[in-house]
Amino acid sequence: MPLRAVSIISHLNNVSRGEPPVLPTEHGHAMDIVDLHLYDETAIQQAAELLVLGFREHWPDSWTTLESALDEVRGLLTADYICRIALDDAGNVVGWIGGLPSYDGNVWELHPLVVHPDYQRQGIGRALVLDLEARVRERGGLTLHLGSDDVDGSTSLSDVDLYTELWEKIRTIRNLKGHPYEFYQKLGYTIIGVMPDANGRGKPDIYMAKRIG
Ligand SMILES: CC(C)(COP(=O)(O)OP(=O)(O)OC[C@H]1O[C@@H](n2cnc3c(N)ncnc32)[C@H](O)[C@@H]1OP(=O)(O)O)[C@@H](O)C(=O)NCCC(=O)NCCS
Repeated sequence: MPLRAVSIISHLNNVSRGEPPVLPTEHGHAMDIVDLHLYDETAIQQAAELLVLGFREHWPDSWTTLESALDEVRGLLTADYICRIALDDAGNVVGWIGGLPSYDGNVWELHPLVVHPDYQRQGIGRALVLDLEARVRERGGLTLHLGSDDVDGSTSLSDVDLYTELWEKIRTIRNLKGHPYEFYQKLGYTIIGVMPDANGRGKPDIYMAKRIG
């Protein structure tokens, strides 16, 4: 099917669901991004499977079982939180993102974000983050933040003393194994700090944020 036809059909599907327009990715594919609903058991299962699959390589301790991933997905399906899924043309979940409010709704946490490995580097992650920013902005949020762990020496912030010259180390951070901090930087996020030893000695959590409102 020509891309334009896909785009129009996806757009109409979204409009009929009361959703905002389809976001085209950089590669020209139409991409439906919609709410994940409590009753959509198929999409919940697919989202949970994606968590296990997407975090296995660099964060092997994150979601080791489907049950723990299902708990994470279901935990986001409350009225206060945001949970958005990206669907391919067949309606399968190829990525998803969550948002949780804090500080009276001024600040929201982006957690989690995952794109199916076969669909990465096609603009889906960017589309999901931009969509979440728009949803948070609608709710009056000013800041979107996230923590991105480095548990396997993926950045130059691992295995160093972060209590000396921290800001110089942040300023000169290097990406050693495709850590996603660089993905977020491309979307306008700034490193606002680190939590030393968050995941064991020399394995920090990298904090990032962006003004969105
Ligand atoms: C990180 C992740 C969500 C990115 O999604 P994606 O769909 O592949 O990203 P996009 O295609 O939208 O990329 C947008 C830009 O970021 C770049 N980018 C994506 N992942 C990157 C990475 N790991 N390191 C450096 N740059 C990256 C892309 O090349 C693209 O750059 P460009 O604008 O110059 O072309 C995806 O790789 C993923 O799910 N990884 C596993 C789970 C994970 O890391 N989640 C985030 C934890 S905090």
